[in-house]
Formats: sequence, C-alpha cells, structure tokens
Amino acid sequence: MNAWEQSPVGAAVGRFERARFLPWATPLEHQPRLSQTLGIDLRVKRDDLTGLAFGGNKVRKLEFYFGKALAAGADTVLITGAVQSNYTRVVAACAARLGMDCHIQLEERVPDVDDVYRTSGNVLLDELLGATLHAYPVGEDEEGADQRLREIAAGLSARGRRPYVIPLGAGNPPLGALGYVRCAAELLEQAGAMDHVVLASGSGQTHAGLLFGLRALGWSGEVIGICVRRAASLQKPRVEGHCGRIAELLGIVNPVRSQDVVLYDDVLAPGYGVMNDAVASAIRDCAHRDGLLVEPVYTGRAMAGLFARVREGRLPPGARVVFIHTGGLPALFGYATDLRRTVVRREITAP
Ligand SMILES: Cc1ncc(COP(=O)(O)O)c(C=O)c1O
Repeated sequence: MNAWEQSPVGAAVGRFERARFLPWATPLEHQPRLSQTLGIDLRVKRDDLTGLAFGGNKVRKLEFYFGKALAAGADTVLITGAVQSNYTRVVAACAARLGMDCHIQLEERVPDVDDVYRTSGNVLLDELLGATLHAYPVGEDEEGADQRLREIAAGLSARGRRPYVIPLGAGNPPLGALGYVRCAAELLEQAGAMDHVVLASGSGQTHAGLLFGLRALGWSGEVIGICVRRAASLQKPRVEGHCGRIAELLGIVNPVRSQDVVLYDDVLAPGYGVMNDAVASAIRDCAHRDGLLVEPVYTGRAMAGLFARVREGRLPPGARVVFIHTGGLPALFGYATDLRRTVVRREITAP
C-alpha cells in the first residue's frame, strides 16, 4: 500500500466503487513565459489531458459516478448541463466506453447564442458520441432540471431500461468531488513546494474535493476559487456544503474551515458563459505567450481571475502558484464567433 492508500482519507476514498477512465497522472507543467510576464512561478496541472474524449476535470469525477452506476446495474445514464457543457460530452464518452446508452438534457443557460454555439464544439461531440439529446428551456433551475431528468428516467424504466441519473442539485452527495480528493494526493506528490492553487469554481465539486483532499493530507496553502457561475456570496456556502457532505460520505472529520474557502467573483460579469474583456485577454495571453489554450467559460475566466490577483498583489512576486487546467477546450469551437470578435479580431470574409 502506498502513502495515499494508508492515509485515513485515501483509505476512505478507496472504499468507493470506481470505474477506471483516467489512464495516467496528468502532467504538472511550468509556464516559462507567463511566469516571467506575471512575476510569479506559474505551473499548470494539465487536467485538460485526462484522456477520454478531450478530457477535462469531468473524467476524474465520473470515475465515481460510473462506479456507482455500474454497481447498480445501470444500462443508461442521464445528465443535464449547458448547451456547451463539457460534463455532458464526457458522460457520453464514458457511456460509450462502457456500452451504455446516454441521455443528455441541454439547458438554456447562456443568452443570445448563435447557431455555431448550438451546433459546434461540445454539442457536435455529444451527438458524435451517440447520445440522445433533450432540450430544457431554462438555465437557472437546478431542481427543475433534475426533476425533468428523473421523469425521462422514469419513462426509460417503464420501457425496461435501467437508468442512472447523475444529479445537478447541490444537495446531492458530491460523489464526483471524490475524484478531486484523489487528485490532491497526485498533485502533492508532483508539486513539491507550492503556496497557492487557483481553479474555476462552478458546481463547486472540483474546488471542494481538491481543497478537502489537500487539507486532509496536511497542506496548509491557499486554494483560490474563481467564480464562473454565481456570485461568491452564493458559491461560498455551496462549496462549504460540499465539504461537509464529502466528510459525511467518507465518514471522516471535515478538515476544511470556513476561512479556507476563498472565492473571487470579479471576473464573472456579465454572467455564466458570456465573455468579457478580462477573459478575452487571458485567453490571448495564455495562447500567445505560452501556447497554452484556455476557453471562455471556465479556464479562461479562472485564468483572468488569477491575472487579477497578480495585479492587485494578492499573488505576490515570486509566489509559487499552481493553476488547475480543468479542460473544456471543445467549447473554443462553440464560441468561435465570440472569439473571432474579441480575441482573434478577424471576421470571416468572402474569398
Ligand atoms: C472545463 C471545466 N472547468 C471547470 C468546471 C467547474 O468544475 P465544477 O463544476 O466541479 O466546479 C467545469 C464544469 O462544468 C468545466 O467543464
């Protein structure tokens, strides 16, 4: 047994069923030119390289949901998300890998989108991966979206299928967060000295899981969550709630204190999935300075939040910072129109 498996948190996580999708430990990569520009020591945990169908943070989370679905004898999985959801795309890929059917409900979370947003990027991949798509007309109704999924599942059961619903609502056991509790051990083994970790905080499961794992393993540095979905005043209780529920799931004491949950929402406006100048310039700087791709919804916004913390001195010169690259790169294609307008600044012209 290795040190992780021997630790109380590792032993507790090890008792959960887990489907194996992650083929390797993702690299931790130094960013030389961004580090120089920002005056910090910036490394990126490349969880965009988690392997399955363009990867991203969902692969680690889904090892646990699919572990549970398989143990329950499910033959079909259901998931809800934004039209350009990365989650739904990876669920479709995991289901295909396991020979299961996949139903995806796409919510209207982003206003004023164009046809490219509706048909390219993750939507195209959802369809390519063989999922059945359903539309849900609202974007800020977690309970309603979950309820509709359960109704679709009931219809499938009536036709003899064995459905498993991956729920969205914050009150559900945050099984997916266990993937990031595990990731904490992987990161600590790779990183050596690090002062700060920065990541996107959306549903909050990645944030809560990583923070929980890092604290449980004794790391006392700072985890900075950048809000990509809702204001910090709403996100903080959500992440704290997840930490409490992770402790319950694992049957261990919650090592996360309220002051450990650090969140910034200054780059969130005008809202989820809508670009702003800070996000556009973060996407451009990462691409131009280090060949690092980040996207408009999660990683570009989180990187904009990191840049803002450097500007205000919150991440001081020389700080050893790890940015968690949670993936989402297919969304670059769904946002092609916006990116041309704001980052590339080139209109498509007739030949
Ligand atoms: C690329 C990407 N990064 C970050 C997140 C946020 O992760 P979480 O929902 O666990 O907070 C998501 C969630 O959809 C995502 O797709």
